[in-house]
Amino acid sequence: MERTFLMVKPDGIQRGLIGKIISRMEDKGFKMIAGKLMFVSEELAKVHYQEHEGKPFFEKLVNFITSGPVFAMVWEGDDIIALSRNLIGKTNPSEAMPGTIRGDFASHATFNLIHGSDSKASADREIGIYFTPEQLLSYDKSI
Ligand code: CMP
Repeated sequence: MERTFLMVKPDGIQRGLIGKIISRMEDKGFKMIAGKLMFVSEELAKVHYQEHEGKPFFEKLVNFITSGPVFAMVWEGDDIIALSRNLIGKTNPSEAMPGTIRGDFASHATFNLIHGSDSKASADREIGIYFTPEQLLSYDKSI
C-alpha cells in the first residue's frame, strides 16, 4: 500500500472543483486518509517547491500557491503515486490528455488545479511538511 500527497491549488478552490477532483480519486477506488482547507505561507511554499528554486517560473508559482486557500490531502492505494499522476495529467497543457483532470479542466502550466507527488521520496517529504503523523487516519475501506 502506497501513500501520496495531493493538493487542490487555489484555482481549483476558486472554480469549485474540489468535489470533482475528490470524486475522480474516489471513483478510482483510492482512500483519503487526511484532508484540510488551509492557506500556504510563503515559507511553506518555498519548502514545498524547493526543487524548483531558481527556475524562471518559481516566483510565479510561490505567488500563486499562496494567493488563496488550497485543499491538502493524503491518499492511500496500490501504486497510487503513478496512478494518481495518470489521473491528474501532464503539467504541460498541450500534453495533458482529455480524460485527465488537467486535460479536462486546465489550460495553463502554472494554474493547473492540482499538485500530486511525483515519487515515493517526494510523497514522504510532502506528507511530512503538511501533516503530522496523528492527522493520518487509519480505517478500513472495504467497498
Ligand atoms: P506541480 O505538480 O505542483 O509541481 C511543480 C509546479 O511547477 C507544477 O505543478 C506547475 O504548476 C509549475 N510548473 C512546472 N513547470 C512549469 C513551467 N514550465 N511553467 C510554469 N509553471 C510550471
